[in-house]
Amino acid sequence: AFDLGGRKLIFVLGGPGSGKGTQCARIAVELNLTHLSAGDLLRAEVARGTPLGAELNKLMAEGQLVPMAVTIDLLRSAMSASPGSAGFLIDGFPRELDQGLAFESALSLTPDAVLFFDCPLPVLEQRLLKRGETSGRADDNLASIQKRFRTFETQSMPVVMHYKAQGKVVWVSSAHAVETVYAMTRGMLMQHFPQWVPEPGLKL
Ligand code: AP5
Repeated sequence: AFDLGGRKLIFVLGGPGSGKGTQCARIAVELNLTHLSAGDLLRAEVARGTPLGAELNKLMAEGQLVPMAVTIDLLRSAMSASPGSAGFLIDGFPRELDQGLAFESALSLTPDAVLFFDCPLPVLEQRLLKRGETSGRADDNLASIQKRFRTFETQSMPVVMHYKAQGKVVWVSSAHAVETVYAMTRGMLMQHFPQWVPEPGLKL
């Protein structure tokens, strides 16, 4: 079990390029949340040059999900190592229903909310092809982007629907300018957590 000590747990989902990383970076600062990205943790493992990293890199370049035990272990360690904050924003997780259920049972935790960034494929392609010019990410090419999108629709959308049935999904249309998406997200999170009292000085 993992003791959240009253802190919030928010999962963040959305197709490739839907703005998870961009929005989480800002929300985390403003709401004093620890932002952990499953993709970043996996890329850090790849960068270590281990045999496991090589295996992960291949799956990621193909737009496939990596084995769930790997992601859950990386997240659990990162959460344990995190400093005190108002909670966790876990970006890019869970990407399949079994992964979510396994995490809930391994850590005896359930999310307080699931933030979902909804964005159509043509917008995602445009954003990621542009980012691919400089990102160096092995999966920012058209074939990988389309595969990641299909993986999201078939494997991750059922996660969104699962938590929607529990009334936990904060659904944001993210095919707008960054500022607009941020303002909508902030407003909808505040609606979802009416008791959330922001720290003095924070502009909510
Ligand atoms: P991950 O790293 O999570 O990548 P992803 O889901 O493909 O998403 P991205 O990081 O590409 O995009 P994002 O939504 O964060 O958007 P961003 O803000 O960067 O996962 C990579 C891979 O790892 C997976 O495919 C899988 O193989 C593996 N993996 C990860 N988690 C896993 C898990 N739980 N289980 C198993 N496998 C897992 O924005 C993208 C670009 O658009 C940027 O250039 C940004 O500047 C721009 N942009 C953002 N918002 C806007 C806007 N509103 N207007 C214009 N441009 C914008």
